[in-house]
Amino acid sequence: MADGWQAKWITDGDYIFKEKKTSPKPMTFRKKIGIIKPVKSATVYSTAVGIYNLYFNDKKIGRDYFAPGFTSYKNRLQYQVYDVTEYLVGGGSLIAVVGGGWAVGSFTHKRLNRIYARRQALLLELRITYEDGTAEIIGTDESWQVTEEGNFRFAEFYDGEIYDATVDLLSAGWKSAKTEKVGFKNITASYGCPVRSHEEFKPVNVFKSGSGEIVYDFGQNFSGVIKAEFCAKKGTKLVFRHSEILQNGELFTEALRSAKATVTYIAKEGRQSYSPSMTYMGFRYVGVSGIEEKDLELSALAIYSDMPVVGKFACSDERLNRLHDNVVWSAKSNFMDIPTDCPQRDERMGWTGDIAVFSSTAVFNFDTSRFFDKWLKDMRSDQGRSGGIPVIVPHIAIPGQFETMFKFPIDYWGDSCILVPWAEYRARGDVAVLRQNYPMMKKYLKACKRLAEAFSFGKRRRIWKFHHYGDWCAPDGNWKIWMGRGKWTATACLCNSSEIVAEIAGILGEEEDEKYFRRLSSETADAFRSVLTDGNGKLKNEFQTAYVLPVYYGIFEGKEKENALKNLVCLVKNGGYGIGTGFPGTPYVLFALADNGYSDEAYKMLLNESCPSWLYEVKAGATTIWERWDALKEDGSFNNKDAGDVMVSFNHYAGGAVGDFLYRRVLGLEAAAGGYKEFKVKPVLCREITSASGETDTPYGKIKAEWKTENGVFEINVKVPVGTRCLLTLPSGKEKILNSGNFNLREEYD
Ligand code: BGC
Repeated sequence: MADGWQAKWITDGDYIFKEKKTSPKPMTFRKKIGIIKPVKSATVYSTAVGIYNLYFNDKKIGRDYFAPGFTSYKNRLQYQVYDVTEYLVGGGSLIAVVGGGWAVGSFTHKRLNRIYARRQALLLELRITYEDGTAEIIGTDESWQVTEEGNFRFAEFYDGEIYDATVDLLSAGWKSAKTEKVGFKNITASYGCPVRSHEEFKPVNVFKSGSGEIVYDFGQNFSGVIKAEFCAKKGTKLVFRHSEILQNGELFTEALRSAKATVTYIAKEGRQSYSPSMTYMGFRYVGVSGIEEKDLELSALAIYSDMPVVGKFACSDERLNRLHDNVVWSAKSNFMDIPTDCPQRDERMGWTGDIAVFSSTAVFNFDTSRFFDKWLKDMRSDQGRSGGIPVIVPHIAIPGQFETMFKFPIDYWGDSCILVPWAEYRARGDVAVLRQNYPMMKKYLKACKRLAEAFSFGKRRRIWKFHHYGDWCAPDGNWKIWMGRGKWTATACLCNSSEIVAEIAGILGEEEDEKYFRRLSSETADAFRSVLTDGNGKLKNEFQTAYVLPVYYGIFEGKEKENALKNLVCLVKNGGYGIGTGFPGTPYVLFALADNGYSDEAYKMLLNESCPSWLYEVKAGATTIWERWDALKEDGSFNNKDAGDVMVSFNHYAGGAVGDFLYRRVLGLEAAAGGYKEFKVKPVLCREITSASGETDTPYGKIKAEWKTENGVFEINVKVPVGTRCLLTLPSGKEKILNSGNFNLREEYD
């Protein structure tokens, strides 16, 4: 019996799931509900080990996908609440299908399974209040029945779903459910953003491939499922395969690695419809076999966490608008109850480094407060005893991958515990997000400091070396080279994170801590300059990220900074204005240039269309952000640089961290205090972009900015909400303070 619940956890006690690298058979549970008097209200409280769908007779209850959601299950498990008053009329069967999901199903790139439990289980209470004032609780117990012979024959995030519509549940082989011991404590009402379906895409093109599949192109890469309506004979087998790209006119699935991303449907007789509900895919193309095109009406539903959209951005350059859309679509595709790395291959995990670098862009576009609140709770409980933040949250220890097993502090990935709450606070000004996460941040930074100090003397005690992911996904080299750059990225990161935590300590009134972390930051900056440079702004190992980070984080000053910038610009020019950065440098490279007198160079890089660049992807037809800058070669062919273990996703948001620059410099809108209580508007102009407009919702209301340059005049409109103050800087450098209201200003502009 779960605490506070009258119902008991139930399962199929005979089901022993032993197979490796796959998922268990979905369990279908049922209970007949007889209604003999008028119902006033009826509510279901339910959760599962696995993921579950609820039905009353044939009707699905609620709009959620993948309930109960993914949490650090051993620490907390969400339950859902559904009003079912209208469903109960006349009585019938309450049915729950429980798939393996994250808890029992195959998950992680090693395809572990039974990560949290040996098999699925269900906990449910139906609470009915009758018109006559009486009440009844029908809870899961041994009177429920269970079968693995329901319509869902298979369900898994990676491999897809098999649904047999010919199965008549009435004649399935039902047996009595047994009670199950489930060790999850803390069963708590759902507090995250439920995963729901959003946009519905119609195909923009349909054709028959050489191999005979009907290929549907939905014009957009995204996470979701198909929605099919068709006429078929009983027993017809329809197969839907998914992919992000085509190669030679066929679906290309090599990038999915072991994920089959395939849905199989066995038809009943006649007209019917089907949309998978216990899996999702990252795809743009669907290949269908088993039915004629004329008999099938196919669309697709985008599925992601239900977060309010709060930002808008547009400018005169359509390519940048597409880039912005790509950033937004990569965010939607990877906000799947937790922030994931990618939605298509055999990963889809809560890799912390990806969101660490993307969070400041994400908060512009969505109200991420609830979404991050849920995920950060898990991060807090999954923090290692010594302070390390797991590289995957919710944490999973992957045999053989020691940083996951030992929660080893790793630059940027671990720093997500600081960068994510900080981005959230800057956007929405809620001090609670800082207060709640502050102990975790402090403990983490102290762990980093200890590691940096180990086996080191003098200034080297502030060089944070050891195992890091470093310049992950930089366009040159491979993972060994990226990781080999860890000393540079990690030390700069430690300096920046300590500075942010000092600022947070100041906001929280922790004066001693503020001093402590400020000193740690400045000692780390000093060590960076002394140990990693020639003392004159030249790095001992030169790569774009190694310059970008210290420049952006203010590690260099005066002559050293000037020289460091010249060296960075030299690298950028020699690289033909191509991007040279991996995850850590990408969010800041344009700021490092544009904010320090090199805005022409920043725009040349932003508007560059040759590989590696953001617009190379756009020119190649990308509709989301790629994991690797050169995922496709110039001729459109797939670029597999990692012989064997392919690591090329077309939907990884980390490279989309440039979205922050679009808002903060192209449009020019930037928070100067948490929640935009004070904000700046200061566009960085260039010849090629002649107008920009955008907005963001703040706790004080909507801020809007819109500027254009025309016939030698710069004109700007700014909407300043009540209770906020805007510092506007015009192209001449003239500054104006704007209190609430709508403002229109003009200035001559050369
Ligand atoms: C993921 C990344 C992640 C990385 C760290 C990859 O396989 O897709 O985005 O952060 O591993 O090692």
